[in-house]
Amino acid sequence: MSKVLITGGAGFIGSNLARAYLAKGYEVIIVDNLSTGKLSNVPENVTLYEEDIRSSNFIDIVKEEQPDVINHHAAQIDVQLSIKNPAEDASINILGTINVLEAVKMINETKECRLVYPSSAAVYGEPQYLGVDEVHPIKPISFYGASKFTPEFYIQVYHQLHNIPYTIFRYANVFGIGQDPKGEGGVISILVDKIVNNELFTVFGDGEQTRDFIYVEDIVSANLIASEKPINTVVNISTNTKISLNELINVAEGVINSKIETKYAEERSGDIKHSYLNNKKANEQLGWYPAFTLEQGLLKTIEYYKNK
Ligand SMILES: NC(=O)c1ccc[n+]([C@@H]2O[C@H](COP(=O)([O-])OP(=O)(O)OC[C@H]3O[C@@H](n4cnc5c(N)ncnc54)[C@H](O)[C@@H]3O)[C@@H](O)[C@H]2O)c1
Repeated sequence: MSKVLITGGAGFIGSNLARAYLAKGYEVIIVDNLSTGKLSNVPENVTLYEEDIRSSNFIDIVKEEQPDVINHHAAQIDVQLSIKNPAEDASINILGTINVLEAVKMINETKECRLVYPSSAAVYGEPQYLGVDEVHPIKPISFYGASKFTPEFYIQVYHQLHNIPYTIFRYANVFGIGQDPKGEGGVISILVDKIVNNELFTVFGDGEQTRDFIYVEDIVSANLIASEKPINTVVNISTNTKISLNELINVAEGVINSKIETKYAEERSGDIKHSYLNNKKANEQLGWYPAFTLEQGLLKTIEYYKNK
């Protein structure tokens, strides 16, 4: 049986990954300090270590567990917080990842251990063209974008020096079950929260700004492929299409079959107007394609929270 160690496995994407790895027959170990993650997200039948990825205990855990895959999803993901406290953001996202890399290196001295690392569309900053591909200039406009990108270099150097097998993903805007609407959860988690609680939804700007919303199960399927077949390169994971907030509201109204009370407020400074990522490289190198439409993803997410 293969063993995966998921950092950040009590968070939104990490807990979806944990369930999927279990369903595939993996033994699942989670390391999470529960800073934004929740115990209630953690499925049964996993081993949970409540620990910080920056600690020396983390290295001991990896040594003890000897995983075949380390899937490193723990991170500080709040863009505003990264701007307020860049040192803390860098400590978790950059130094934390270096500690994870030291652990991966240690295991690879005796057996193969593959690394999966999620980077972000935030590394590209304001797109210079659409759909943004992997050779687009890197120009982050937040420290979060910078702290998600820097480890990409470290991973590539660890690969060159220590032969670590890896896959780096740059995710578009992920949505789905387990995303916290109260944090920097992303607009769909806020929209779903408003729908379920019958509250007014606020759009900042005219609603014509576009995003590339990808359902979390599509993120999971890419991770499962990369866990078996590392490609030692960086690929975008996205839907390859853009959708405006106004279109999103229309689709959601179709899903719930009623009108969503919406208010328009002043545009927020620093928001990117249009964005979507090209996913051709992931199609070619991983054989991965997104399988869920926005409508299907929304339906699953709304149904889940309505029945909760
Ligand atoms: N959600 C998105 O749209 C999106 C897009 C691009 C990339 N990503 C990346 O995907 C990963 C997961 O994001 P998410 O949306 O699930 O976020 P999340 O906040 O729900 O999950 C992050 C998890 O990491 C844990 N964590 C944070 N700091 C830690 C530390 N020092 N030690 C141990 N655990 C720690 C948190 O408790 C949490 O459970 C992150 O690396 C993020 O940068 C997410």
